[in-house]
Amino acid sequence: ATERTFLAIKPDGVQRGLVGEILGRFERKGFKLVGLKQLVPSRELAESHYGVHRERPFFAGLVAFITSGPVVAMVWEGDGVIASARKLIGATKPLEAEPGTIRGDLAVNIGRNVIHGSDAPETADFEIGLWFQPSELCEWTPAD
Ligand code: CMP
Repeated sequence: ATERTFLAIKPDGVQRGLVGEILGRFERKGFKLVGLKQLVPSRELAESHYGVHRERPFFAGLVAFITSGPVVAMVWEGDGVIASARKLIGATKPLEAEPGTIRGDLAVNIGRNVIHGSDAPETADFEIGLWFQPSELCEWTPAD
């Protein structure tokens, strides 16, 4: 079924000049871009986004990193896009990510793994609502 997911290119991806490369992968796959903006996330936003990791030892560093510079926040739409985007992104640990995936091709470090993607429909809904106003999302279909 058609669904939406939230993806974010992290500060390492932006600083390494990978925005075009990453956008292109999802465009060429055939997903539809319905939301796109660049922002430096506030601490509040970062802590909410990563709230499930609050008790983890890496939480403080994760929040510090994600708020350290511009993030490119995106909403993509398409058939099965939540799971498919996770496949295109690859495993969280870049050294375990398959070649051909974004992390498999472009990252080596778990704390600098270039991109985040929602892991399930519930988190996609939560993350889209957290990062975007409804008015920032475009409903569109190709002209024929
Ligand atoms: P992400 O998909 O954004 O979701 C949670 C993030 O926490 C994950 O990608 C990693 O970047 C980060 N993370 C997970 N485990 C570790 C770890 N052991 N050390 C540092 N960062 C981690």
